[in-house]
Amino acid sequence: MSKKIANQNLRVAILGFGTVGSSVARVLAEQKFGGIELTHIYNRNVANKRGHANAKFVPKSVVWTENVDDILNSKVDIVIETIGGLDPIGKWLERALKSGKSVVTANKQLIAYRGAALQKIAQVNNVALVYNAAVAGGVPVIPATLQGLQGDRITRITGILNGTCNFMLSHMEEGADYAEVLKKAQAAGYAEANPSADVDGYDARAKLCILARLALHAELNPDEVPTQSISKVKLVDFLYAQQLNCTIRQISRVETDGTTVRARVAPMLVPKSSPIAWSHGTQNMVVTTGKFGGDVVFSGHGAGGHPTAVAVVSDLLAVAHGTSRVYLPTKKRSVTGEFMAPHYLRFVVKDQPGIVSAIAGALAKVGANINSILQRPGFPKDQLVFVVTTEPCPAPVVEKAMRAIGKLSFIVDTPLSLQIMTEEDKAED
Ligand SMILES: NC(=O)c1ccc[n+]([C@@H]2O[C@H](COP(=O)([O-])OP(=O)(O)OC[C@H]3O[C@@H](n4cnc5c(N)ncnc54)[C@H](OP(=O)(O)O)[C@@H]3O)[C@@H](O)[C@H]2O)c1
Repeated sequence: MSKKIANQNLRVAILGFGTVGSSVARVLAEQKFGGIELTHIYNRNVANKRGHANAKFVPKSVVWTENVDDILNSKVDIVIETIGGLDPIGKWLERALKSGKSVVTANKQLIAYRGAALQKIAQVNNVALVYNAAVAGGVPVIPATLQGLQGDRITRITGILNGTCNFMLSHMEEGADYAEVLKKAQAAGYAEANPSADVDGYDARAKLCILARLALHAELNPDEVPTQSISKVKLVDFLYAQQLNCTIRQISRVETDGTTVRARVAPMLVPKSSPIAWSHGTQNMVVTTGKFGGDVVFSGHGAGGHPTAVAVVSDLLAVAHGTSRVYLPTKKRSVTGEFMAPHYLRFVVKDQPGIVSAIAGALAKVGANINSILQRPGFPKDQLVFVVTTEPCPAPVVEKAMRAIGKLSFIVDTPLSLQIMTEEDKAED
């Protein structure tokens, strides 16, 4: 628990003066919370950072340092970590906790991979480790789940946890193609030069694992959670999705029936009637499903310096107020991506007789039943794009058939398989 020092300010240090860290400094300066004193800022190349637009909000008394030991060996009470990554940050935070400092962090990768171990160190040392900003940025999903939904038994979490993918897919829905929206996302600072962590689902997967631990008490190894990239989704998929009264979003899902844990991050067809389909731009949305309380929806800005800083500063205040953390029992669980769902299968073919029967045969061989076949007019005969939808079946079964179909002579582009979210996609009683 945090030290509450009567009549004495709590000393706070920020590690990392980038997008989030500099906004934290600004929010602290503008909000002027009594009893909190920013004493140190650590970053490499401090001279550069002093020229940052938010540096003018930093009080003159603050010590800027390029030596992390100046903070770890100091009398700082609370360390705010806004650098990111596993190493060396993990070791630094371990040292901070062991020396009696509480830690507030926005670092999803570190918490997804080592959160349980760090939590134990915090507990043993009677300090707090809080990381509400690590999931959904400015949307308080974690505190709401921990404090407002603890009485329920949460069986499922479904959400949009990556603002960059949501920005890209919601712009594709309006008629842009993938390469164009990726450039737009990069120009706006939403996507990195190497966008893999976002588009391939690793960022959302880390957040999903944190939520699984806190809400479902299931400790998952992020590397075991299947992911599917959004990079293979094309504009034409939105046209076909529209025909099915759906749109496409990157969906993170985890659910348990008490024995099996299923989790997956993948682009999915989402019915336009679902709240999940209504999220646009960089918005995040999380729907929790509880055995007793049913569905609860959270939405808002999932990223950005200021919204994330609000989450970090709120954590800081919670620690300062001495909010007691309940240490929930969690269990290491293995995970499968085998959700049952109807599938959307898109093929690009060179037109010739026998295509549909060859595809139907490959699907029948793995036990997948066709539900409908859609073909829009206007494609050239050597680049014909059509779609097959299936009855509900597990993704691995369909993927097996799709690998076989991909080898057939009339296929001219790798086929795409997406699961379709349905209205019946509700947790069981
Ligand atoms: N940005 C968001 O919207 C958002 C939302 C939720 C959570 N987060 C999380 O918040 C954390 C920070 O993200 P951010 O967007 O603020 O990143 P950022 O803008 O890149 O800021 C990171 C800062 O840390 C510094 N830094 C990096 N490695 C360092 C090292 N080894 N030693 C000293 N300084 C180092 C960087 O300095 P240089 O400038 O010299 O590289 C930079 O000032 C990450 O864990 C991220 O996942 C971010």
